[in-house]
Amino acid sequence: MAMERTLSIIKPDATERNITGLIVARLEGAGLRVVAQKRVWWKKKQAEEFYEMHKKRDFFDELVAFMTSGPIVVQVLEGEDAIKRNRSVMGATNPVDADPGTIRKDFAISLQRNSVHGSDTPENAKREIDLCFKKSEIVG
Ligand code: TYD
Repeated sequence: MAMERTLSIIKPDATERNITGLIVARLEGAGLRVVAQKRVWWKKKQAEEFYEMHKKRDFFDELVAFMTSGPIVVQVLEGEDAIKRNRSVMGATNPVDADPGTIRKDFAISLQRNSVHGSDTPENAKREIDLCFKKSEIVG
């Protein structure tokens, strides 16, 4: 299986509850390595650009408001099949649908306040990593 990189975000509902370490432990326990990490507070423009594929969705404005409501932890994760592996440890978008033992099942508050983001395709992973990190900030 190929070594891959994916973009992960620990969202404001998780930084607010001081559980970023618990989430990183889940990611590392799933075989993912944090090769870049920073804590940032996005401006509206950054959240709108990151989520531009959802621009036409009715939840877009609320999603942008939530993602700019507090600090987030942005990470590049590396590992075998990292994109799928991360999606699998995250669990389903809506925590009520998430499998037991997943991050969203155990930590998410609601569909919107669902604690983590993970890229869903190699194309999106590249785009999201390039948006969030300079090459020199990624140390594998
Ligand atoms: P999406 O890309 O569908 O999910 P995922 O984060 O699992 O890749 O949606 C992006 C985020 O938008 C999602 O994590 C939570 C939020 N969202 C809502 O607030 N309401 C909704 O109806 C949906 C589908 C998503």
